[in-house]
Amino acid sequence: DRSVKIAPSILASDFANFGAEIQAVEAQGADWIHVDVMDGHFVPNITFGPATCAAIRPHIKTVMDVHLMIAPVDPYIDAFANAGADVITAHIEAGPHIHRTLQAIRATGAKAGLALNPGTPAEAAAPLLDMVDLICVMTVNPGFGGQKFIHSCVQKVAQLREMIGDREVHIEIDGGVDPTTAPLVVAAGADVLVAGSAVFKGGSVDNPVPYGENIRAI
Ligand code: DX5
Ligand code: ZN
Repeated sequence: DRSVKIAPSILASDFANFGAEIQAVEAQGADWIHVDVMDGHFVPNITFGPATCAAIRPHIKTVMDVHLMIAPVDPYIDAFANAGADVITAHIEAGPHIHRTLQAIRATGAKAGLALNPGTPAEAAAPLLDMVDLICVMTVNPGFGGQKFIHSCVQKVAQLREMIGDREVHIEIDGGVDPTTAPLVVAAGADVLVAGSAVFKGGSVDNPVPYGENIRAI
């Protein structure tokens, strides 16, 4: 299914209200829920782990899209799968054995995602195209929400779509997606758009209408 899906990142939501925030954005039209796991080691920020994912799982009716910004990855794959992740995405830069990592993710029954940092070329994904269900093209350096979209990554999206050919692989964009940048990456072949600040700005669980307006604007 190549229709464009919006995946709000709960990194930009109220951390004391994940359940209510998720219900609010889903009611306002979110297609997937993007969950940013950071370890303070692979990226310079810390968020939360599998226990939090398990706690929010019952509040998600759609797809729980877990983006692991952690190293190492392999010791934690089962924990995130058991927490109910539908998609588990690992970074190619997070370790020397990404092929093994993707195999291990698929072995849990979850969909396997491969994330590429802005400094990593599309060619790095070439040996892995039959191992993945999703490629996440980072359009900011991972670690924080609210950063500026890196335009040089758009060309990488087009290259990856060409490389993927007729395989069933989503291309997800993560970082700085807003109503201005979204059309650029969709034209290049992306079909899943993660958005944090551009979805949650101006709204709250008590005033969720802006979430819907923001989603439709993207
Ligand atoms: C960045 C995270 C993103 C982040 C995007 O490390 O992976 O998912 O939440 O935030 P915005 O949309 O604000 O750039
Ligand atoms: Zn993310």
